[in-house]
Amino acid sequence: MAEEHNPKQIAGFAAADLIEDGTVVGLGTGSTVWFTLVRLAERIAQEGLRVQGVPTSEDTHAKATELGIPLTTLEEVESIDLTIDGADEIDGSFRMIKGGGGALLREKVVASISRREAIVVGPTKVVERLGTTFKLPVEVVPFARAVVTRAAVALGAEPHLRTTPEGAPYRTDNGNEILDCHFPEGIEDPEALELALDAVPGVVESGLFLGLAQVCVIGHPDGRCEIRELEG
Ligand code: A5P
Repeated sequence: MAEEHNPKQIAGFAAADLIEDGTVVGLGTGSTVWFTLVRLAERIAQEGLRVQGVPTSEDTHAKATELGIPLTTLEEVESIDLTIDGADEIDGSFRMIKGGGGALLREKVVASISRREAIVVGPTKVVERLGTTFKLPVEVVPFARAVVTRAAVALGAEPHLRTTPEGAPYRTDNGNEILDCHFPEGIEDPEALELALDAVPGVVESGLFLGLAQVCVIGHPDGRCEIRELEG
């Protein structure tokens, strides 16, 4: 029987090999990016690769520090050469839903100043239509939760407050809450939805990432790795 590979490991390791010497690298969040961090730390130790990483969450900050990856801050750098991040869903135009791990705000800030963003996923994250396999996370200021909930319903969503295993409202690294928004038919027009959500007072950021990624690295269980570049 053929050996089963971990698609996250295949994609995460392959993306780390895209990192060039002397660059500033955005370090995404999640279990797939974990493999990128491990491989990047290996390259730093073995090849003497010189990089400065910008972490997108407290979790990634802690992991990168533990692995000995040099870090910098947005005070120190104005732009990022390459960011490697995960996704919860990605479509054929590299539009994404992100924020399953709660790091969407910092991930979007880092993506916005990145010259290139490579997304690392397994094949199950690749979808025809966003919102069909994953709820859209929306980060909200706690005071505005009820207001944003009603606005999300008016936009066709079924919003659910994200909670901890103990049942308390989940808090992001920025002290905000997350509404996970289910769209029964998926998201028909991601661009229009993003604009509508951004216009609601109390919404900090939505997990719709549109026009931010240029590369998609897909790991497969049979060990293959596909690197797709956005056309046009
Ligand atoms: C973090 O908030 C998310 O955007 C992650 O990048 C996304 O959830 C992917 O995570 P995994 O690689 O763990 O599936």
